[in-house]
Amino acid sequence: MAILDKHGAIERNASLLLVLSFLVVTVGGLVEIVPLFYLQNTIEEVEGVRPYTPLELAGRQIYIREGCYVCHSQMIRPMRDEVERYGHYSLAAESKYDHPFQWGSKRTGPDLARVGGKYSDAWHVDHLMDPQAVVPESVMPKYPYLMTSPISAEYISDQMWANQVVGVPYTEEMMTAAKEDFAAQVNPDGDTAGLMERYGKVTVSNFDGQAELTEMDALVAYLQVMGTMVDFSTFTPVASR
Ligand code: HEC
Repeated sequence: MAILDKHGAIERNASLLLVLSFLVVTVGGLVEIVPLFYLQNTIEEVEGVRPYTPLELAGRQIYIREGCYVCHSQMIRPMRDEVERYGHYSLAAESKYDHPFQWGSKRTGPDLARVGGKYSDAWHVDHLMDPQAVVPESVMPKYPYLMTSPISAEYISDQMWANQVVGVPYTEEMMTAAKEDFAAQVNPDGDTAGLMERYGKVTVSNFDGQAELTEMDALVAYLQVMGTMVDFSTFTPVASR
């Protein structure tokens, strides 16, 4: 094996070893990564996935600020125990407008990727106010101040702009109507035609049950949309079409 004997030269020369290792890693990396940009099923478009409404986006900010991701993941793996407990496994497209994504790696509490629609708004409010009142053995902290912290739409278009910069397709119309849409989503008696036209399927509700618009409204609006954008009764993955 004459060629293998030459290996000694590489092992004795650190610089040559470094250069050759670099080349191997570069070629290997390219071979693994480049096809992902061209394979159709890694960039699968899924019907129903839409950018968050201004209120949901604000709720997501609160979720991040409060560190909910420290105890909750948002990714259902395609394994039987997870699918039976939480529902259809998470699709890449479902978090494509999440900046930063909230997949997480720690489950002190359950995965929340499909918690939307699982409970009523009132359940979420009671639970966030005092988790132990609803689930006595819970170790989740209480968040009662969300109920008394008013939230304004002052910075919402800046947040939408920041998301737009990283690729979320908020239209100019959505940006101009941000404050209007923010308020419309918590007012079931108001005019929600514009909000629906811009975003499609949106849950309109007085989430926290109070007249005032609070951080609780925004957080519950976010929790209620989680995992509900795709209709899994009609969805078939590209691979099985
Ligand atoms: C210290 C860890 C911890 C933190 C932080 C935490 N949770 Fe929880 N959460 C839990 C545990 C444990 C449970 C399961 C028991 C229960 O329902 O209270 C849970 C349950 C839940 C549930 C019910 C899920 C289901 O499917 O039944 C929701 C919704 C939820 N948490 C939302 C949140 C939100 C929103 C935040 C941030 C404001 C948060 N949690 C922060 C530990 C945590």
